Amino acid sequence: MGSLRKKVRFWASALLLLLLFLLQIDSRSLVGATNIPLGSTLSPSNASSWSSPTGTFSFGFVSDPQSPSLYLAAITYSGGIIVWSAGGSGSGNASVDSAASLQLRDDGNLRLVNGSGTLVWESGTASKGASAAALLDSGDFVLKNSTAVVWDTYDNPTDTILQSQSFTFGQVLRSGVYSFSLTQSGNLTLTWNDSITYFNKGFNSTFTANKSLASPVLTLQANGIVSLSDASLSTAVVIAYSSDYGESDDIIRFMKLDSDGNLRTYTAFKDAAVAPQRWAAVADQCEVFGWCGNMGICSYNDTSPTCGCPSRNFDFVDPDDHRKGCKRRREIQDCPGNSTTVQLDHTRFLTYAPEISSEQFFVGIAACRLNCLSGGSCVASTALADGSGFCYLKVSNFVSGYQSTALPSTSFVKVCAPALPNSPSPPGELRSQSSNPRGWLVAVLVFGTVSGLMLFEWGLWRCFCRNGARYGPSSAQYALLDFGMVLLEIVSGRRNFDVSDDTGRKKFSVWAYEELEKGNIRSTMDKRLAEQDVDMEQLKRVVLVSFWCIQEQPSQRPPMGKVVQMLEGVLAVDKPPAPKAADGGLAAVTSITVSATSSPTQPSSTSSHSIASSSLVSKRNLDKPSSSLVLPDQSSS
Ligand SMILES: *[C@@H]1O[C@H](CO)[C@@H](O)[C@H](O)[C@H]1NC(C)=O
Ligand SMILES: *[C@@H]1O[C@H](CO)[C@@H](O)[C@H](O)[C@H]1NC(C)=O
Ligand SMILES: *[C@@H]1O[C@H](CO)[C@@H](O)[C@H](O)[C@H]1NC(C)=O
Ligand SMILES: *[C@@H]1O[C@H](CO)[C@@H](O)[C@H](O)[C@H]1NC(C)=O
Ligand SMILES: *[C@@H]1O[C@H](CO)[C@@H](O)[C@H](O)[C@H]1NC(C)=O
Ligand SMILES: *[C@@H]1O[C@H](CO)[C@@H](O)[C@H](O)[C@H]1NC(C)=O
Ligand SMILES: *[C@@H]1O[C@H](CO)[C@@H](O)[C@H](O)[C@H]1NC(C)=O
Ligand SMILES: *[C@@H]1O[C@H](CO)[C@@H](O)[C@H](O)[C@H]1NC(C)=O
Ligand SMILES: *[C@@H]1O[C@H](CO)[C@@H](O)[C@H](O)[C@H]1NC(C)=O
Ligand SMILES: *[C@@H]1O[C@H](CO)[C@@H](O)[C@H](O)[C@H]1NC(C)=O
Repeated sequence: MGSLRKKVRFWASALLLLLLFLLQIDSRSLVGATNIPLGSTLSPSNASSWSSPTGTFSFGFVSDPQSPSLYLAAITYSGGIIVWSAGGSGSGNASVDSAASLQLRDDGNLRLVNGSGTLVWESGTASKGASAAALLDSGDFVLKNSTAVVWDTYDNPTDTILQSQSFTFGQVLRSGVYSFSLTQSGNLTLTWNDSITYFNKGFNSTFTANKSLASPVLTLQANGIVSLSDASLSTAVVIAYSSDYGESDDIIRFMKLDSDGNLRTYTAFKDAAVAPQRWAAVADQCEVFGWCGNMGICSYNDTSPTCGCPSRNFDFVDPDDHRKGCKRRREIQDCPGNSTTVQLDHTRFLTYAPEISSEQFFVGIAACRLNCLSGGSCVASTALADGSGFCYLKVSNFVSGYQSTALPSTSFVKVCAPALPNSPSPPGELRSQSSNPRGWLVAVLVFGTVSGLMLFEWGLWRCFCRNGARYGPSSAQYALLDFGMVLLEIVSGRRNFDVSDDTGRKKFSVWAYEELEKGNIRSTMDKRLAEQDVDMEQLKRVVLVSFWCIQEQPSQRPPMGKVVQMLEGVLAVDKPPAPKAADGGLAAVTSITVSATSSPTQPSSTSSHSIASSSLVSKRNLDKPSSSLVLPDQSSS
């Protein structure tokens, strides 16, 4: 007995040791849950990573979302959401191969080295005296000496600001060609290519009315409120509320400059791979400069913003990625004949600071077009038509368009003649109308039945009359009986004689009547019809009429004219008596396929323009663009 207990104890401790050993091996890949010693190295090949104390965040190599065969050295939240990446700016220019390494060197410098040995990125902390590193549970990776933090990722953000992280005046978020920063006065600004500021929004607060801020700080609070604080403000000023503000269970919030040039807040749930959006700085994505590339026109389809080209004088730069913009099939300087303009209704070419000061003129629509056509450097123009009287003459080599039926503006794009405007509704937008089955169901049923009936009558006539046999009480009455059966069989797609399990082994007409009484009309219906969007009222009427027609007593059957009126819905249909279980029917019905036909309505083309009144602009004006442009309209004021 005692020896057995000893044996159990021995094996238990052996198992425990083995477990501890395995755990030891596992924890070796998470080098130092708290302090990461200098000299540590991470590599994509052994999938090693540094983890925050509770494991909420980890720092290691992850597959680059833009080119999955390459890697990014990134800090990720539990589900894999990237919140920082070494050398990253969303443009994927810091992705490395599987032989790369992230080195925390003995001199305190953090370096990302590609497989080939080239330095991709470094923290530049070689001489700062850092003695250790750590990844904190806030998602901040710090390089520190014995007393203070000498470098951290919070102070060197890429495209993301985590909750409670401070984003100060002077810092920049970058994503591809877009950047986000805070001005000295506390405005939030979004900029394209470090030149065009398409979003510049201040806050409105009595606190800040006449104050100049010292060093404004933008924060996404854990409760979802985006706020601005400054030493000169007594309280933080609210910039925006995330749609789920106030909720805070097991979530991490972050603010990100997305690759589409919009700044958004997101809520990431633990272990989730995607985070839902909670606020966007630019409510209208089409107002983001350059989102559709050069010469691209942003517009909305049913669901989302989408990119197109101004006219058929243009092609997509990359047919697979419409955001890359459009190019003229023939450059204006290479035009074989004269150049002309394409008119784009409800379209505006985005014009923000600093372009607006040099491209905005005070002229009407005809002059807006003609001045661009004759001005050598002008590529496009927009007559705002919003009451301001302004016209934008676009002379830059990058223009960005926005089209919406809500816009009053009219734009013109210079092209080689002839102008080929886009067709009013591109082929992809023509939607087949789901046609109402009411009309065609009746038409097809009546036509099909009558032809089937005629065929059948002809057959009967050949069989009986030619052989001299008598054809029952009255051929008209039989015809109606047949008509009723055919009608029922067409709707149901079954024969009356079909006896199957799903009709409870009853004759179909009997079973169908029972279903009708239970209100189960749909179950009597042909499965092919069920796939269509059938009007149940109409179907019920057809079924009821068919039951009237197959009445045992000929006197109960309605005349044909009344049947048609009932089918059309002109006459109300009463509830028919039940069919007899033993009554006959007919055997053969030619199958009639019912198909929905779409009838797209194509509006006639009306997009071409002609503004012939060149007399509106004097020849002298055409020759001397900017200053003289103002004259014609000023003379009237
Ligand atoms: C991962 O690979 C790197 C470089 O090859 C090496 O320095 C590091 O020690 C490895 N880590 C682990 C946990 O094996
Ligand atoms: C990536 O591009 C950004 C700007 O677009 C630049 O600041 C950064 O240095 C680049 N990174 C690398 C590793 O080239
Ligand atoms: C690293 O090397 C790979 C191939 O060896 C290359 O595709 C990648 O662009 C390089 N990354 C950088 C940032 O140079
Ligand atoms: C740690 O770094 C801080 C900031 O760089 C510096 O002021 C401090 O003197 C350093 N402490 C030590 C012990 O080197
Ligand atoms: C972005 O700006 C640089 C100079 O600042 C310019 O050379 C480049 O052409 C611009 N990019 C585009 C797409 O216009
Ligand atoms: C700040 O934004 C407001 C609009 O919200 C704008 O009127 C003002 O000119 C901006 N200030 C600066 C310095 O850009
Ligand atoms: C700023 O706020 C005050 C009161 O809060 C309001 O009266 C004023 O119209 C606002 N100004 C702007 C430009 O929104
Ligand atoms: C801001 O300045 C204007 C003029 O300089 C002054 O009329 C106004 O009272 C000031 N507002 C506040 C809140 O100090
Ligand atoms: C709207 O545009 C988006 C992006 O171009 C596309 O993915 C989507 O299918 C379009 N939707 C419709 C209804 O055309
Ligand atoms: C080009 O324009 C001029 C003046 O408007 C006109 O005389 C000439 O016929 C045009 N040429 C062509 C090929 O249309």
